[in-house]
Amino acid sequence: MLSRQSQTKPAATKPASVTIKPQRMGFSFDSKVPRYWLANNRLMSHTMNAMSLLFPQGETFFVDSVRAFREQITDPAFQKEISGFIGQEAMHSLEHVAMNQHVRDLGMPTDEIENHLKVLLDALRLLPKRHHLAITCALEHLTAMLADLLLERDDIREDMHETMRPLWVWHAIEETEHKGVAYDLYQAVDGSNYAERTGWLVVATLGLAAFTLYGTGRMMLKDPAPFSLKDTAQGLWRMWGWNGAFSSLTGEWLKYFKPGFHPWQNDNSELINRFKDQVEASIAPQYRKSNRSTGKGAATPTLQ
Ligand SMILES: [Fe+2]
Ligand SMILES: [Fe+2]
Repeated sequence: MLSRQSQTKPAATKPASVTIKPQRMGFSFDSKVPRYWLANNRLMSHTMNAMSLLFPQGETFFVDSVRAFREQITDPAFQKEISGFIGQEAMHSLEHVAMNQHVRDLGMPTDEIENHLKVLLDALRLLPKRHHLAITCALEHLTAMLADLLLERDDIREDMHETMRPLWVWHAIEETEHKGVAYDLYQAVDGSNYAERTGWLVVATLGLAAFTLYGTGRMMLKDPAPFSLKDTAQGLWRMWGWNGAFSSLTGEWLKYFKPGFHPWQNDNSELINRFKDQVEASIAPQYRKSNRSTGKGAATPTLQ
């Protein structure tokens, strides 16, 4: 039986003010959502649609990889964090299923893309379970980076249509809250193999990029509007150009290669507080009872 620090003392820990509590939001998506909901740009919108398609199965993979090791943890506080992580990822899956249904209703080939993702994840499941956890840590680093970007960069957040923004901001907050859990677990169950940890970041990044590109391409080809060079060039520049959404993350990505890396070395917990009340105001009425701040936030402005 292992405690959180039995193998390697973490270089940083989650701030005490951060709690990890799941929250069902009950988002729904209808005709008010524009087809090109991100920056009115086709390429960028389909890129995020493709990422959303990854979440239900991807987050189930994360949950399974953490569940496989949690029985080795004796520390009750750490067990509570693991429960919070599992609950939050399960809620993310459910809410993204709703978004993905909306994308499916637009005529996008979501079933095929999801079936191909299943083949990929089933192949990964053949690996030893510690590798599953290392893969989860790597992908959690990527999601934590994207979450930080979304919460930090007003320009990116404001480019999201008001009908989509609450889902992504809520997800970003919870990814921030639980960003250290899988990593702490991996360290506790002998995540001391530097090559394994960092090697999986490289593979996971390439895999995520390739699969997102594949999903985006499939949706662009299926999109009824004719190809637009201008739209595509603008989208590419905003994602990969100078200070682009993805290109600006290079420095954060590289930090994972530091031998003493820990997700909470970047203490961005202030961002959680900045958006928490707004997110709570976006909870659908039927889920308000389970509001983690017991109804507080009802009078706060919504993210819309
Ligand atoms: Fe998530
Ligand atoms: Fe996560």
